[in-house]
This record gives sequence, structure tokens and C-alpha cells, in this order.
Amino acid sequence: MDIVVDKSASYESLKDRVVVITGGGQGIGRGFAHHFAAQGAIPVVADINGDNAASVQAEIETGGGRALGIETDVANEAATGAMAEAALSAFGRIDVLINNAAVFSRITMAPFWELPVDEWKSAMDVNITGAFFCARAVVPAMREAGWGRIINVTSGTVKSGPPNYLHYVTSKSAVIGMTRSMARELGAWNITVNTFWPGVTDTGIPRPSVPPEMFEKFVEMQVVKRSTRIEDLAKPILFICSDEASYISGQILEADGGLNFG
Ligand SMILES: NC(=O)c1ccc[n+]([C@@H]2O[C@H](COP(=O)([O-])OP(=O)(O)OC[C@H]3O[C@@H](n4cnc5c(N)ncnc54)[C@H](O)[C@@H]3O)[C@@H](O)[C@H]2O)c1
Repeated sequence: MDIVVDKSASYESLKDRVVVITGGGQGIGRGFAHHFAAQGAIPVVADINGDNAASVQAEIETGGGRALGIETDVANEAATGAMAEAALSAFGRIDVLINNAAVFSRITMAPFWELPVDEWKSAMDVNITGAFFCARAVVPAMREAGWGRIINVTSGTVKSGPPNYLHYVTSKSAVIGMTRSMARELGAWNITVNTFWPGVTDTGIPRPSVPPEMFEKFVEMQVVKRSTRIEDLAKPILFICSDEASYISGQILEADGGLNFG
């Protein structure tokens, strides 16, 4: 997918911020990496697919930006610690963590009574424990700096509860509670923690949950009658990570064209 970076949003305070984006090797996370780089921030692309992480780094450097791609399995605590150390040793700081990595496009869908237990455990390990490990890895640097932003990415499925997806929906529900508790524990250090709720986004990566013909149906159900663009997600993320959003914590930021509300 070609990433169109919309530069109409400009946040001076993001310049030189070091932004860890897990799962940034493809899809939405890759789009976030490009948008942060366009603000003069330094994305650290932490993805289990090391080749993709390196490609995103190369794309950003080719465009004149700075970035670091690091192969990281967020479900492995030692790997998340090594990722944070690599970012600190390269840039001396970690300002933002976006817990975006998930068992998502490659997920196995099945009625829950048929779901292999390993699939359940993998969704919990990556989508919940991965966010917990990454937060633990970066929080010491944020506390020392007295500033930080943590974003946990959820999904509209927590409201609609689609079938054959119990592991995913359960894991994405958990990160909302995780956000609220983390926000309370970290507020004293000016570290805000928020949940981000992306709309249904066709990133060009095929997935079992939304076959191509279903994207139009979602648009029909939305208030805003067009499909989600990466910049529709990236611009609210830039805002919530900027100094301008320093008084917003523990919240859910829904950028879904009004698909879910009420
Ligand atoms: N695309 C959508 O419509 C949509 C809608 C709502 C929520 N979301 C959420 O947004 C986020 C990004 O979605 P996407 O469409 O880009 O997903 P995707 O499946 O295309 O990308 C996920 C990325 O996470 C990486 N990843 C998987 N396991 C990992 C691990 N153990 N360690 C590190 N990286 C790992 C993958 O390699 C991949 O690069 C996910 O959290 C997803 O649940 C997506």
C-alpha cells in the first residue's frame, strides 16, 4: 500500500520525539511511522517481521527522515527489553509507545468452542501481554524524563462483538482496562495513557475478518460515508501524542467515521 502522508496537521512538539511503534512493519503501524517521521519524530519500528521493520526504516530514511527498525517479538519480555535498550542507545530517549502489534490479519477465526487453545493463548500473549511488556520496557525512560505517551490500540469489535473472533475481541477489551489503570499509575510523571480505536481500514493486507466486499457495507453503516484512510487514524494519533494533548489521559479515542457510538 502506498502511504499518503497528510502534512496538514503540524505538531512542533513532536519534533525529535522517539516513538516506538510495535507492529509498525506493515498496515496501520507503518502508516503511523511515516506520519511521525513527517513531523520530524523518530519512529522505532518494532515488529516480529524484521525484514518489514527494516524496510520501513529504509523508506523513511530514503525520504530524508530518521527511523530504526528492530525485529521484536512483543510477547517475549527479554526481546522488549532489548528493543528499548537499542532505542535508548541509538537516540537517548523514548517518548512515545504505540502498542499497535496484534494477532489480527493472520488470525484464525472459528466458533470459540472449536478455537485451538494455542490460538487463544497467542492472541492473549501478543495483544495483551505484549502491550504490558512493552510498557514496562519503556516506562523507566519516560519516568526519568517526566514526560511520556502510551497508546494502546483496541478495536470496534469490543462494541459489536462479532462471532468467531472471541480471542481477538476479548484481548482488545482488555487493553481498555489496561489503559485506565496504567493512566492512574503514571499520571504523576506526566505520562498520559490512552486507548486508540481505529475504524475499519483496508490496508491492502488481506484478512479473514473482513473480506473485500464487506468494506463497503461498513461505509454504509458509518456516519461519515467514505472508507477509512490511514491519515484519518494518524492525525488523531499525532494530536494525542503532542504537548497539546497533555491533559487527556485514560480515554478512548474513536476514529471510525462514526461506525460505533452510543
Ligand atoms: N485494520 C483495521 O481495520 C483495524 C481495525 C481496528 C483495529 N485494528 C488494530 O490496529 C492494529 C494494526 O492493524 P493492522 O490492520 O495494521 O494489522 P496487521 O495484522 O496488518 O499488522 C499487525 C502487525 O503486527 C505485527 N506483529 C504480530 N505479532 C507480533 C509480535 N508478536 N511482535 C511484534 N509484532 C507483531 C505483524 O508482523 C504486523 O506487522 C492492530 O492492533 C489491530 O488489531 C485494525
